[in-house]
Amino acid sequence: MRVGVAKETAPDERRVALVPDAIQKLRNSGMTVLVERGAGAAAHFPDQSYVDAGAKIVNTATLCSTSDVILRIHRPTSAEAAMLQEGQVVIGLLAPLLDPLAMVRLARQKVTAVSLDAIPRTLSRSQGMDALSSQANVGGYKAVLIAANAFGRYFPLLTTPAGTAKPANVLVLGVGVAGLQAIATARRLGAMVKAYDVRSDTKEQAESLGAQFVTLKSAIEATGQGGYARALTAEEQAAQQAELNGIIAASDIVITTAQVPGRRPPVLVTRAAVEGMKSGSVIVDMAASELGGNCELSRPGKVIATPNGVEVHAPVNLPASMPTGASTFYSRNISNLLLNFVVDGKLDFDFSDEVTAATVITHGGKVVQAATQQLLQTAPKGGAQA
Ligand code: NAI
Repeated sequence: MRVGVAKETAPDERRVALVPDAIQKLRNSGMTVLVERGAGAAAHFPDQSYVDAGAKIVNTATLCSTSDVILRIHRPTSAEAAMLQEGQVVIGLLAPLLDPLAMVRLARQKVTAVSLDAIPRTLSRSQGMDALSSQANVGGYKAVLIAANAFGRYFPLLTTPAGTAKPANVLVLGVGVAGLQAIATARRLGAMVKAYDVRSDTKEQAESLGAQFVTLKSAIEATGQGGYARALTAEEQAAQQAELNGIIAASDIVITTAQVPGRRPPVLVTRAAVEGMKSGSVIVDMAASELGGNCELSRPGKVIATPNGVEVHAPVNLPASMPTGASTFYSRNISNLLLNFVVDGKLDFDFSDEVTAATVITHGGKVVQAATQQLLQTAPKGGAQA
């Protein structure tokens, strides 16, 4: 079986789906690894490092025409998808629910599309394949570094002959995978950290990392399906915002990570809350995208300086800013998922397996994954015929 590693083409993407260290394991399972020329260069894995690990460097056309499986980070663009062949398997963070019609097109091409972001994350055996977690971990770490870099004071308590620096007050809103890493990183830098989430079981997790958990008087409990948060009602959100404003005003740094699957991210830091912050405060909104963000002032990919001296950072694709580490974790996740489908050196999609049923989006010319099928049935036009 030939496994191809694609060079990513998304702007500012520096990660690669497979790193040289992962090649031996695939070769031990009888696979030949082909790597598109320059695929790992931006993540500091030159072509020669893949050759040394036993892979073959090929051009784009050869990769697309001869690979049985193509490993990627992002969903292929329409131009990239047009080069895929019938019967090929493509594995990546395909985000099928954000663009189900792209899945219909892959099904029509008889491509098997496998999406890492659809892994059932609460299964313990999925943990090694959970790329959402591995990449969110990188994001939470980098968000704190961005804040520390932009902040005009020290994070730790520092006693020096020139005086004593007070520790920075960091508030982390949203205590999922990224939030927990943000807490741990800010604590390692010596900051005082507070954290808040609508899922009450995050209290113990935040406290175990040295954060003080914020319990609001309105005490909203919003654990939803699959361990994620549910969306708040308008009244709950208003109560939450009002109570958070005072805590935000007392913070030097606010890192926001709150997401609700399939919804716009909730606004936790309103314009009024930003206006209440001290000059020199920094907000890093990890939830910002074209859909909106956790801070009302966030502009995806931009840094906004407010008239009262607050910087609002809304970085997109933080994992790409740490490409070597992020690619190394991703590579482990994607290799584990690929090996999940291999029996006696051949691909075998067993749909009675929970991981296969959740992650294989298209197969045999059809959209086969339940969540994507369901979305297509409710979509305004057409894709459901695939
Ligand atoms: P996420 O990226 O969807 O959301 C981040 C955080 O924002 C969540 O903790 C969520 O509760 C919080 N949030 C949403 N709305 C909020 C609001 N209005 N105010 C404050 N906070 C709000 O979550 P992520 O990090 O992808 O995963 C969340 C959960 O998924 C995990 O904590 C866990 O339950 C489950 N999970 C389980 C795994 C496992 O069992 N191995 C692995 C990974 C995730």
